[in-house]
Formats: sequence, C-alpha cells, structure tokens
Amino acid sequence: MNNIVLIGFMGSGKTSVSKALAKKARMNLIDTDAMVEKKARLKIKKIFADKGEPHFRALEAAAAKKAAKLKNTVIATGGGIVKKPANVMALSKSGVVVYLKNSFETSRRRLAGKKDRPLFNHDNLAAARALFRQRQKLYRAAADAVVVTDKKNVAAVVAEILKKTGRN
Ligand code: S3P
Repeated sequence: MNNIVLIGFMGSGKTSVSKALAKKARMNLIDTDAMVEKKARLKIKKIFADKGEPHFRALEAAAAKKAAKLKNTVIATGGGIVKKPANVMALSKSGVVVYLKNSFETSRRRLAGKKDRPLFNHDNLAAARALFRQRQKLYRAAADAVVVTDKKNVAAVVAEILKKTGRN
C-alpha cells in the first residue's frame, strides 16, 4: 500500500517531519502516540505512571494495527513501535518504512528541557543511551529506507524522504 511510515528514536523528528511531509506530499497524517492518548484520554507520561509500560504497548499495538489500514497516509510512530514484530509487520505491509536516523547526542539536544518522555530521563542518560543502542538494530531491520537527520532541517529531511520513496 501507499503509506509512508516514519520510525526512529525519540527526538529523531518523526512528528515535525510527518506534518511537513504530509503537507508537501498532499497525504493524510496520523500519529500513533496521538491515537494512544486519544483512546486512553491520558497523556503518555500518565499512562506509563498509572498503568505501566505493558499497558501503553498494548494501546500502541492497537493503534499500529488501525493506522496500517489507512491509505495515502503519513504515519508517525512512537520510538518503541518496533518492539513488537506484529507492529512492524502490519506497518511494513501498509507502505514504505523510513527510519529517521540520528546520533544519541542529537536526540539528547532536541529533547533538552522536555519532561514528557518516560523512557528518556535527562538525569539518567546512561539508561537512555543503552535504550538508544538497543533500538538501532530494530530500526535498521524494519526500515525500507534510512534518512539521516543530524544537522538537517525539516525541509531537507522531507525532500530526502520524497526522493528515497520515489515521490518527487
Ligand atoms: C517511546 C517513544 C515515545 C512514546 C513513549 C515511548 C519509546 O514517542 O511513544 O514515550 O519507547 O521510544 P516519540 O518517539 O515520539 O518520542
């Protein structure tokens, strides 16, 4: 199918890139994190705190399944979407999966001052870095295309995605 699915670590720019990409490519836009928050009527931070990560992952899996049924849509995902093979399978079938890749340092800088990521604690960078490392192979395995986002603005990333997905 003809969706573009954006995957990558927290701070890779999935949300901002997805908005600009959808506009430029005249595609619809959906964000699995936003779907989860809408369904739970709670912010992600609160879901993790009150109900735990497994509950969040179950809601995320349901969102991935639903998003994968859409057409002509840019699907922005949460950084942990690749944890469940079923999510990757459904999203891969629905379109091209683009991995927005950047260094840990870039993510850290982009997330500076943000306290809404339960799995990126600026007071425990060792844990965040370990998660970053562990995720790399999952993103690589799921990706049909890779776009490096370090030192690039949103427009440049969008242009590269359009080129790599054959839409320009
Ligand atoms: C997560 C990434 C977050 C969000 C949740 C868990 C992860 O999304 O889904 O906090 O496990 O990497 P972003 O990648 O949009 O920050």
